[in-house]
Amino acid sequence: MLKGKKILIGITGSIAAYKIPFIIRLLKKAGAEVQVIMTPMACDFITPLTLSTLSERPVLVDFYDKGDGSWHSHVDLGLWADLYLLAPVTANTMAKMVAGIADNLLLTTVLSARCPLLFAPAMDLDMYQHPTTQNNVKRLMEFGYQLIEPTKGELASGLHGFGRLEEPEVIFQRIVTYLSDNKPLTGKKCLVTAGPTYEPIDPVRFIGNFSSGLMGIEVANALADLGAKVQLVLGPSSLEVSHPDIEVTKVTTSEQMLSACLKYFSSSYITVMAAAVADFKPTIVADKKIRKADKLSTLELEPTTDILTSLGKTKRDNQLLIGFALETNQEEAHAIEKLTAKNLDMIVLNSLNDAGAGFGYSTNKITLLKTVGEKITFPLKSKKEVAVDIVNAILSLKSQPK
Ligand code: CTP
Repeated sequence: MLKGKKILIGITGSIAAYKIPFIIRLLKKAGAEVQVIMTPMACDFITPLTLSTLSERPVLVDFYDKGDGSWHSHVDLGLWADLYLLAPVTANTMAKMVAGIADNLLLTTVLSARCPLLFAPAMDLDMYQHPTTQNNVKRLMEFGYQLIEPTKGELASGLHGFGRLEEPEVIFQRIVTYLSDNKPLTGKKCLVTAGPTYEPIDPVRFIGNFSSGLMGIEVANALADLGAKVQLVLGPSSLEVSHPDIEVTKVTTSEQMLSACLKYFSSSYITVMAAAVADFKPTIVADKKIRKADKLSTLELEPTTDILTSLGKTKRDNQLLIGFALETNQEEAHAIEKLTAKNLDMIVLNSLNDAGAGFGYSTNKITLLKTVGEKITFPLKSKKEVAVDIVNAILSLKSQPK
């Protein structure tokens, strides 16, 4: 898979450095050449001996070898690499990268490297959420560096939140996809919806749902990883989208989501509607806050437009349209009904009866139902992995469009 590819791995001083040997093993198994550079602090977390044994190359820490005095050229290293992975990267190193500081070999090589750079932060949740760190992450992305976002979970400090280094298999896959010469969706446009919609009742209240937007965002990431230019129409969500090939249109109401989808649908090869769109909205939106004294006892609602059905009506033969079905009973029967009624090529069914599936979880358990009658059931996985399964199934639906 990676035969002949040259990969530089820069390791900084974070406890997550213990995960890097797994990445090196995966890369070596895939045929890549791996050169490790460490900051001096990183050597306190994992020994250079472990890393040089696995990478089959001496690990570089200093600008020159104190034994024989030989010089380690950051320029040569930068020219040698097909990809530079910084993992784990600390808040300190990111801040130095933004400032252009080059006070160690790892950082100096960042400035010399001509190849793509992927950076995978790992730190405690408050450090990662700090405005300075967040600004630095954004700046690094503006430089064209690709972020491998930390995940949520238990941290070395015992706290719980965002800051865990992404899993070695996922980082490895990102590298494979990035270096792959024939990405199947290169030059294709895709449309994805994600998140809830909010239907206002008055200036301070709305009808909404618990969707976080994560499933749709991961589908957008998986499509973009395969070379697609993705238009993501995102309802109110607190999640960040960092892929350089995803353009985000933020919307609030189902009506806004509908008009954004109508704008992008006709030029889109694959459309995946993962958003949890409200089915009803208040008939009248009060222009002033409704007071307790108003004694409101009922709320008159009217149906929203079914966006997916509208798109299904104008779908051409060279387009693929995929919907979601979140069900609580007679799951499969309801999903199949939607598949036909909405003129879809495939529907992603998740049942709220499955533990760990649906809103609010970072995992999901899906069944894919295709128009051709095929059904594939998957075990519980992270939403990132589920998104890859969905996109792989989409690619198997049809050959490339006319
Ligand atoms: N959908 C949509 N517009 C709506 C409602 C739903 O585009 N106004 C899309 C969703 O994005 C999803 C699919 O339709 O891809 C199915 O949504 P779901 O809520 O499961 O089903 P509904 O069609 O709304 O039917 P019901 O609520 O009766 O199950």
